Parts: sequence; C-alpha cells; structure tokens
Amino acid sequence: GDNVLYLAHRFDIEMEGACEASLACTTCHCYVLDDYYDKLPFAEEKEDDLLDMAPFLKENSRLGCQII
Ligand code: FES
Repeated sequence: GDNVLYLAHRFDIEMEGACEASLACTTCHCYVLDDYYDKLPFAEEKEDDLLDMAPFLKENSRLGCQII
C-alpha cells in the first residue's frame, strides 16, 4: 500500500519503520501539519494505543505507516 512510510522511502526521505507497517512499533511516529491532519481519517484504536507509548507525543502525532 501507499502509506506515508512507503511514500517517504520511495522519495528517499528518511523515515524509520521497524515493524514494516504492521502496527507493532512507534518508529514511524511523525507530526502531521494541521491542515492535513484534519483531513485524515481518525487513528484506529491500535494506532492510538501505540501512539500513547511514543516519545514526544503531540496533538498532531500519527504513525506514518497508517496514513494512507
Ligand atoms: Fe511500525 Fe509504523 S512501521 S507502526
């Protein structure tokens, strides 16, 4: 799938994704610009649970591999 993690990799932008988008890590944690954040579907419960464990959590935090 074309989630943000894979898109970043395709364009040689560094983004970690230790679990390969299987929702088992927080290394793809990123901040989404506000305008764009509002347009995204809400995070699933599992993503939210992981985000709770992510360092430096912010209002606009998401897991990159879950943004499609
Ligand atoms: Fe592990 Fe996104 S790469 S949750």
